[in-house]
Amino acid sequence: MDKQHGLPSAYVPPDLVEIPPEWMAPGFPSQLLRKEAAEALVVMLRAARAEGHELRVRSAYRSYEEQATTFQYWIDQLGEEEARRVSAPPGHSEHQLGTTVDLTSASVGWQLEQPFGQTPEGQWLAAHAHEYGFPLSYPQGAEEITGYTYEPWHFRYIGRDQAASWAQSGLTLIEFLKEPTD
Ligand code: DAL
Ligand code: ZN
Repeated sequence: MDKQHGLPSAYVPPDLVEIPPEWMAPGFPSQLLRKEAAEALVVMLRAARAEGHELRVRSAYRSYEEQATTFQYWIDQLGEEEARRVSAPPGHSEHQLGTTVDLTSASVGWQLEQPFGQTPEGQWLAAHAHEYGFPLSYPQGAEEITGYTYEPWHFRYIGRDQAASWAQSGLTLIEFLKEPTD
């Protein structure tokens, strides 16, 4: 899912399940992910916790309509040109796939902001999320390729094997997913 490729407004992923509330950022409502992604997420968050890093979910699945509301919020805040650098138009968000999650930690007040990338929790994710199947979609310095500014909190589940290949490729996720497979 990117600026060129969209999903139908009626697309709702199959097998959405609730992320266990213990993994939600304090005060934020429960969120959904596809079953396999939710299970992989919990494995990853438990591993981080075991290494002393408490990570929580701010957002996960967003419907087309929710993305429309989110996108409009950013247009109202920033104007359309800047909004398009940080938020996907409805039908173009990885969040509508039900495989994508925004993670944060207490050290940034549970916010989704770029300093998260410098926290121990953000650094742990940058180093290890792919081992659990979750590439970082929008790395630093890649806006010309990805279309979005750096989002150290936004991870898309593609499966462990695929994510291992992605990590080896050195490509951004959007480039990796466009590569022909044989
Ligand atoms: N913030 C990302 C680009 C989204 O809206 O999906
Ligand atoms: Zn996100």
